[in-house]
Amino acid sequence: MQRRLLFGITGGIAAYKAPLIIREFQKRNVTVKPVVTSHGFQFVTAATLAALTGGPVYSDMFEQQGEYPHLELPRWAHALLVAPATANCLAKFAWGVADDLLSTLFVALKKPAILAPAMNHDMWVSDSVQHNVRLLEDRGARIAPPGTGYLACVEQGVGRMADIETIVEQTMQVLDRSGALEGRRVLVTAGATRESIDPVRFITNWSSGKMGFAVAAAMARRGARVTLVSGHTTLVPAHDIEFVRVTSAQDMFEAVTVRAADMDVIVKAAAVADYTPAARQEHKIKKSGGGMTLELTRTKDILKHLGENKRPGQILVGFSAETRDLLENAAAKIKKKNLDMIVCNDVSAKDAGFGVDTNRVALLWPAGKAAAPDHCEKGSFGGVKVVYEQCELMSKTLVAERVADRVTDMLSASAR
Ligand SMILES: Cc1cc2nc3c(=O)[nH]c(=O)nc-3n(C[C@H](O)[C@H](O)[C@H](O)COP(=O)(O)O)c2cc1C
Repeated sequence: MQRRLLFGITGGIAAYKAPLIIREFQKRNVTVKPVVTSHGFQFVTAATLAALTGGPVYSDMFEQQGEYPHLELPRWAHALLVAPATANCLAKFAWGVADDLLSTLFVALKKPAILAPAMNHDMWVSDSVQHNVRLLEDRGARIAPPGTGYLACVEQGVGRMADIETIVEQTMQVLDRSGALEGRRVLVTAGATRESIDPVRFITNWSSGKMGFAVAAAMARRGARVTLVSGHTTLVPAHDIEFVRVTSAQDMFEAVTVRAADMDVIVKAAAVADYTPAARQEHKIKKSGGGMTLELTRTKDILKHLGENKRPGQILVGFSAETRDLLENAAAKIKKKNLDMIVCNDVSAKDAGFGVDTNRVALLWPAGKAAAPDHCEKGSFGGVKVVYEQCELMSKTLVAERVADRVTDMLSASAR
């Protein structure tokens, strides 16, 4: 497939490496269209870029009257790479400022973006730059982190643009999967269910919905038509995601099962109550002198139901929130619920699980059926044979990207 890349070049000294980056993409059969800021031209010339790409170099939004380059270019591309990305460009991207061609097309961009920041160390560690990088990462931009070394200003420290090889490799991975889920239907669940005791009280859990929302966004970025069924959360989904709000475990069961048959992929990241009050009181329960016993009954097991009714080729992914025996419990769940993959996380850790922005997960597949990457390990937990990938501590957005990558690979493997 001919891959199409928009290549943003901003006004940092590392822009002198842009022609070398273009050469690498050409070797890999990627068509590159450069978009350069006016300050970018202080460091690289239009003549060099035009000679290398054999096409126009974009910079001025108003060059051709009657044309809309800020809309047409992002529609044309499979992805956007910005290298170097200045502090100024990160700030504009993070806050939706649209005052030149590059920043305006970023606002309109619905494709993945890879940003390679490069700047002086003091600028890189500043609160504003770090805050903007986090905002952009939370919205799904892939950051190629700067490395340590001699900076152009003859100082040392972190801020030097990532190596060309790393940038190109990361961009190729994104390009290979960009649009990979086009035509696919994906259902994701998120958030916490609420089980009513009486008109003013309910039972719930600590789920914030962040993980499921991030998975839904990652799937949508790969071109899937996404339906997000969510229990309670304060988050707002992207407008191109169909959003279904539910309250109780029973509502979630109904909303999911009625849609399940149409889906190519179902990812269950919601924290659904296992138990619900046996009877919801019509009026507020009044306090009395003694204690109180609340009778609970089991809710329907949505994941098990989906596993039992899975149609051929459909991919079912579960999440398991555990506080001990993580891999054993996750492996047991894979088997019991007929899952294709499970994302297992330790919700007892301070920096992972409920409410925080980071997660430390392991991905598990049933042995034999896995389209798992080569670096995965094989293991047997509680008598269940699995292949698993232990991931480092990552932002929930990056965990979601990893889940979407693995699902994409599973779909391509089953299509072969
Ligand atoms: C010699 C020189 C080198 C610069 N290098 C960088 C840099 O590496 N990173 C950065 O964020 N800004 C750098 N700047 C500052 C930017 O050029 C400046 O913030 C500019 O407004 C960025 O515009 P742009 O983001 O639209 O390209 C440099 C400025 C000069 C004078």
